[in-house]
Amino acid sequence: MNVKPDTEAPAAMSTTPLLHRDARARPRWKGSFISVLSFTIVAMVGTLMFFAHRGRHGHRANEIQGVARLPVMGYNTWNAYHCDINEELIIKTAKFMKTLGLTDAGYTHVNLDDCYSEKQRSPSGDILASKDKFPSGMKALTDQIHDLGLQAGIYSDSGWFTCQIYPGSYQNEARDAKLFQDWGFDYLKYDNCAVPFDNITRENIMGRYERMANAISDLSKSSGKPPLVLSMCQWGREQGWLWAKKYGQSWRTTNDIQPTWESIADLINQNSFYTWASDFYGHNDMDILEVGNGDLSYEEAKTHFTAWALMKSPLLISADLESASQETLEILTNPEIIAISQDPVVGTSVSPFRWGINPDYVSNVTHPAQYWSGESQNGTVFMLINTLDEPATMFFNLTESPWIRAGRQYAVRDLWAHTNNGTAVRNFTAHGVPAHGVVALLLEDAGDEPEGLWPPCAVIEWCMAEDGTMIDPDKKWSAEGREDL
Ligand code: GAL
Repeated sequence: MNVKPDTEAPAAMSTTPLLHRDARARPRWKGSFISVLSFTIVAMVGTLMFFAHRGRHGHRANEIQGVARLPVMGYNTWNAYHCDINEELIIKTAKFMKTLGLTDAGYTHVNLDDCYSEKQRSPSGDILASKDKFPSGMKALTDQIHDLGLQAGIYSDSGWFTCQIYPGSYQNEARDAKLFQDWGFDYLKYDNCAVPFDNITRENIMGRYERMANAISDLSKSSGKPPLVLSMCQWGREQGWLWAKKYGQSWRTTNDIQPTWESIADLINQNSFYTWASDFYGHNDMDILEVGNGDLSYEEAKTHFTAWALMKSPLLISADLESASQETLEILTNPEIIAISQDPVVGTSVSPFRWGINPDYVSNVTHPAQYWSGESQNGTVFMLINTLDEPATMFFNLTESPWIRAGRQYAVRDLWAHTNNGTAVRNFTAHGVPAHGVVALLLEDAGDEPEGLWPPCAVIEWCMAEDGTMIDPDKKWSAEGREDL
């Protein structure tokens, strides 16, 4: 297995190479005084240029690493409660996370979403926690969350207001980051509503996120505390997967989720084209989970959770935990699926190796890619999604996945049935996959495949004997030798 090392951001730019390069370029025939003077001027100009450049596209956020290496797992209030939140509910939810075994399963965060504040800032300019919803104040809230062994998340917006028209953080980034840290929060979801006019920002979305990323980075440096985890919520606009890793730890790749199969299929389809962007410290965010909500059937909820976990999206539960069914809890705590999400050795996502119903790379909101695989520390993960409205048989050749070695056989582990399903040689067939259902498998190398299999290459294209004979798949191999069919 080709395990990639931790992805670290490029080292912070230094002026030193610039000075050396320019210093080396100085002509030797000049007198030493002129050389020193020129060197000094170049050094000053270089330094000024560096800081000027850094002011515009400074990657200060990149200079601090070490938070959210793996996809964040926790709770977010939005899908379950929208604006109807208060301190009692948050603490009750945090306690349910413990008593229902969710924290033991790996869920660590309790995150507030929109609508926690007053509509106006204080006279001195600070965001105020809503007196009605959070009468004890935010510090008391995060203290209780921390006392339960959990971390706490808050929400703001890169524009004038949040999406529900509470104060946003534009032009108040440093002040708000400090307030959130003083309130005791560890994590910030940052939205994209109420965008100021172009002639004010002279920036697009990337610049507005950069402002908060730099504020968080500066605050971490001045306070000596870890940076707030920055979760960027721009609904997959302006290709966050290309640039957002410079600023934070996750970025939305998709529209807002709904608790329907149509929405789940749509988001899987969208994200299938960007799976390459997720790795340690930076994750595609497919939005808050809807497991336990709306009209999702048991099979659909399993598919939803599997796809989010194996594509290394943050896993943020957002159902009413008090009334959560046993099935919902079983899905959310499946240890074998969570182990892939939280793999400490392999940070990458599964990706489609065959679209199935559609030709490869065709975008289809109702029928996303069906055959997926990826690496994990314990073997190759396969995810098969039956996008049809009826049960289906799903078949694949093992070496369609690049992570499978030709000429080997594989022990098959079913990550939902929790059973060992024998050994796969060359191919695998899943019978009776339910409508909108999923099959999640872990294939572990189990040694050489049996001798004498025909054809001698599982992939027949350009399969050739050492003497130059092209292998004809219409012949078969037996212990006695090759014979015509
Ligand atoms: C949306 C966001 C939702 C939720 C909502 C709050 O932009 O996608 O997850 O945060 O705003 O108003």
